[in-house]
This record gives sequence, C-alpha cells and structure tokens, in this order.
Amino acid sequence: MNSVLLHMNKAQKRPGQGAGLADFNKEEATRVRNFHKSFSEYAVTPLAALPQLAKDLGVGSVHVKDESKRFGLNAFKVLGGSYAIGRLLAERLGRPIEDLGRDELCSDAVRAKLGPITFATATDGNHGRGVAWTAQQLQQHAAVYMPKGSDPIRQKNILATGAECTITDLNYDDAVRLANKNADEHGWLMVQDTAWEGYEDIPRWIMQGYMTLTIEAVEQLKEQGIDRPTHVFLQAGVGSFAGAALGFIASVFGDDLPITTIVEPHQANCIYKSMVAGDGAPHNVTGDLSTLMAGLACGEPSTISWGVLRDYAAASISCPDWIAANGMRILSSPLGGDQRVISGESGAVTTGLLDYIMRRPEAADIRKALKLDASSRILLVSTEGDTSPETFREVVWYGSHAGK
Ligand SMILES: Cc1ncc(COP(=O)(O)O)c(C=O)c1O
Repeated sequence: MNSVLLHMNKAQKRPGQGAGLADFNKEEATRVRNFHKSFSEYAVTPLAALPQLAKDLGVGSVHVKDESKRFGLNAFKVLGGSYAIGRLLAERLGRPIEDLGRDELCSDAVRAKLGPITFATATDGNHGRGVAWTAQQLQQHAAVYMPKGSDPIRQKNILATGAECTITDLNYDDAVRLANKNADEHGWLMVQDTAWEGYEDIPRWIMQGYMTLTIEAVEQLKEQGIDRPTHVFLQAGVGSFAGAALGFIASVFGDDLPITTIVEPHQANCIYKSMVAGDGAPHNVTGDLSTLMAGLACGEPSTISWGVLRDYAAASISCPDWIAANGMRILSSPLGGDQRVISGESGAVTTGLLDYIMRRPEAADIRKALKLDASSRILLVSTEGDTSPETFREVVWYGSHAGK
C-alpha cells in the first residue's frame, strides 16, 4: 500500500484518568538518569533545532533528538537494556538501584558474588547490542537471536562484544519465543524489550530506561525557549519506547498533553490495528513483517505499553517505507544553516512523515485532524543513526525507496 493511514483515537483519555503513570513520572526518570550518569559513556544527546525546515514546512519549530550519539552505540536502546540489567542485579544483591553505579556493578567483587550470568534476548539489532554491550561491561555473557533478513553488520556489532548472536529464520516475535525457550532451558536471564502476561518487570524497567531520553529532551526544549511541544511523533515497534515517552510526557504535561501520534510501518502496524479495532485490547500482526524500518518490524504490542498508548495517544499512523527513506534524506541533507542528523530507517520515519503531512495536498485532512499549523512546535526523536551503513548509502546516496 502506497498511502498513509491515519486513525484518530476517539477513546483518548485525560492523563491520570486511564492507564497508571506511576512508573513514568519525573521522579522515576531522574532515578533512571542518575543510574545512566554513572557510566563514563553517558552524555546528553543533541537536540537539533531545524528552523529552516520548520519554515519550509510552515510550522513553528521542529526539534529532533539525535540518539545516534548514545553511548557510542548509534541508537537509544542501550538506555533500556542497561537499566533493566542494573535493576535485576540490584535485586539479586538486595540493594536499591540508587546505591549502585556502573563501577560497583561491573566490579570483580560483584561478579564473584553473583557468579556467571548469561543474558538472553531477541533483537532487530539495537536492543541486542545494548544488552550485549552491558553484559560485556559486567564481564558476563549474552546470547542474542535476530530475525531472518537481519543485516549482518548489526550481527557483527553484537558479536564484537563477545556475545553469541544468531540470525534465525524466524520473524521478530518468533525469535523472542525462541530466546525465551532457550533461556528457560539453560537457566539464562531473559532481558526482552517487550512484555507478555507473566513477564512484565524487566520490560517495565526497560521502558523506564528510555525515560532518560525524554527527560533530557524536555529540559533541552526548555533551554531553547519551548516550555511545551504542541506535537510529538513517536515511532513504534512493540511500543515500549513510545509508551515510555508518552507516559512521561503525559505525567509531566497533564491536561496540557501535546498531540502525540504513534507511527508504524504498514507491514508491522500492530498498534494502528489495535487502535482501529477499538475494543481496548492489543491485536497482533503476523507474517514476515518485512519493512525497511527493521527496528519497527514487530507484530505484537507490549502488553504493558499498550494501555498507555491506547489511553493517551491522540492518533496512530501507518505508513509505507518510502516515508522513512525520505526522512533519512531530509535529515542527512539539511536546509541552509540547519544541523545535519544522521538518521537510520527507524529513526527518520517521523521526519519523513512530517514532511509528507505538511507538504502533500493529499495530506490536507491529516494536517487538519492533527491541528498542525504555523504555531506548531514539534518534537521528533531520531532513535538511531546509520545502524545499517549499506542501507543508509542505498537510500541517501542512490535514492532507493523513492516513493512518489
Ligand atoms: C531505532 C529504533 N527505533 C524505534 C524502535 C521501537 O521501539 P519499540 O520496539 O520499543 O517500540 C526500535 C526498536 O528496536 C529501534 O531499534
């Protein structure tokens, strides 16, 4: 399908009147960020202001949070894996996470106390790299499973941490089941970025880990004179990132909640399908989920994130791959004076979508429904850099996925 599909969420609730937000407030986010600050790799990632693009699109402002600069790992995902593993180990040590920083957790003494641990996970690349990197810091081990069609460079980056990493012939959701089965059989600890019934603590900690990004972004916007964005676009795979970001934004802005839109590829649009179904329950998408946006190729919504998205998202959009490709090109080739952002397929889709919505005559209804105009202050998150350099070059240099 070549067109963009919009669903306005008529069941949207006011913050606090739907899914609980106790896990996603400023206090929790501060606790998470303090943990991340204990890593020498921690630095606030840039928030790129793109005034020329905003002018060109006819909106008030566009800001893009650039997660290619996160921990030297080219994507935001390590925020979740590292915090969840921190919480897991804190629990095993019987200590509060506030007392445990990177140096102690990674010490020989802690390793001797806990013994050898293998962390298991499934990943399109970014989450697994974050888990494998954290295991390496801890002098522990990781076993990582990737869906079929995964880019070998993403596997290579995981193998480089000393983890084992297999590209399976399964789709993402089945790779998760395989990782879980092997973890059960071998006594490994499953660190998965999606939840299902009976498996919720670790995915919740992973979601909380992502709040470091959102608390930074809200503070950076303030420093740049924007007290509140009017619009936020959040891309979703299983929805953990979008749920964490939206939960945090809802608890910070309350009744002034920005108009927040969840964005997915057509081939893996499980949040969109769940919103359209309108029965309040999450719905799966099956098949090989094949999309340019590898990080978003997930067909089963996270059970703990779904409630936040269902209750507080204003809208859900499903779009074709060329929207993401356009976003990569736009961010890589900024208009005069704007900052360049190297953004990969899953990172750039919201920029490509904003361009589509503001520029295309056929998108006039979407523009109107989302109340996008010259007064809009828009926040986007480029969640990854060029995690697949070959794809990046194909798209940005040679114009693949040109769309119309
Ligand atoms: C770059 C990137 N952006 C966004 C996402 C979506 O995150 P989630 O699966 O939590 O919805 C992913 C997931 O792997 C990703 O790798």
